[in-house]
Amino acid sequence: MKQRDTSWNKVAGWYGKKVGDSGHFYHEQTILPLLKKYLEENNVRKLLDLGCGQGVVERVFVGEEYVGVDLSSSLLSQAQRSKKNVKSRFVHADASKSLPIKDTDFDCAVSVLALQNIENYEGVINNFAKHVKKGGSLVLVLNHPYYRIPRASGWMVLQGNSKQVRWISDYLKVKRIPITMNPGAKGRRQTVTWSFHVPLSYYIKCLSQNGFYVDGLEELVSSKESVGKFANRENIAREEIPLFMFITAKKVN
Ligand SMILES: C[S@@+](CC[C@H](N)C(=O)[O-])C[C@H]1O[C@@H](n2cnc3c(N)ncnc32)[C@H](O)[C@@H]1O
Repeated sequence: MKQRDTSWNKVAGWYGKKVGDSGHFYHEQTILPLLKKYLEENNVRKLLDLGCGQGVVERVFVGEEYVGVDLSSSLLSQAQRSKKNVKSRFVHADASKSLPIKDTDFDCAVSVLALQNIENYEGVINNFAKHVKKGGSLVLVLNHPYYRIPRASGWMVLQGNSKQVRWISDYLKVKRIPITMNPGAKGRRQTVTWSFHVPLSYYIKCLSQNGFYVDGLEELVSSKESVGKFANRENIAREEIPLFMFITAKKVN
């Protein structure tokens, strides 16, 4: 497979604004409260964040030491400008390759909505294994790998009983998927980022090969209530089909 530049530099302005200081809607409502609770309950003092973007995790982390890694220099500049702890470090590097970081004693590592934007997820998990201390932990926040495969999943309404259901295709196939960030624009003005789909079992196998034991898995639904003509069936579907997966693991060796 040809290596893609999956940096979000070209959409950094747009993404930075969308996330803002406290995160986009799903960061704020769904992901960050759970992540914050996990980090606090596990007494995480030193945190590594791979694919940290503009630093939204740094701003909710209350521990002592934070290192964020990203391939987009523009997002890292935003992160640097809005960091909460002066000691936090942001590193410009490919999270799937050997990192310019010496520390191998992180209490925990996270990747929030970034692993599926990196073609070589194995390299990222390898880095987690290298830099997290024995007994430390890992949190992966993914777009739900069954239900949210870009271009291979979507909503439909069953004829007959008007139930809203989710269709899925190509689940077992490894896919690289272009995502047009500004679908309204024409031709060369369109901006594309890349998403990479692998079945859930690939992540679990790779974690286990790297000495991680999965000890938690949450499936998070959207809290965005529908209004309007089809609100009833949309809200039923929203409460049944998760948007995100929150995986936790411990490094056992
Ligand atoms: C959807 S954004 C998530 C950013 C951040 N974790 C958040 O929740 O706002 C995906 C991030 O992955 C980063 N990324 C993509 N490929 C990367 C790579 N090979 N190494 C490091 N970061 C990468 C992008 O630059 C972008 O910041």
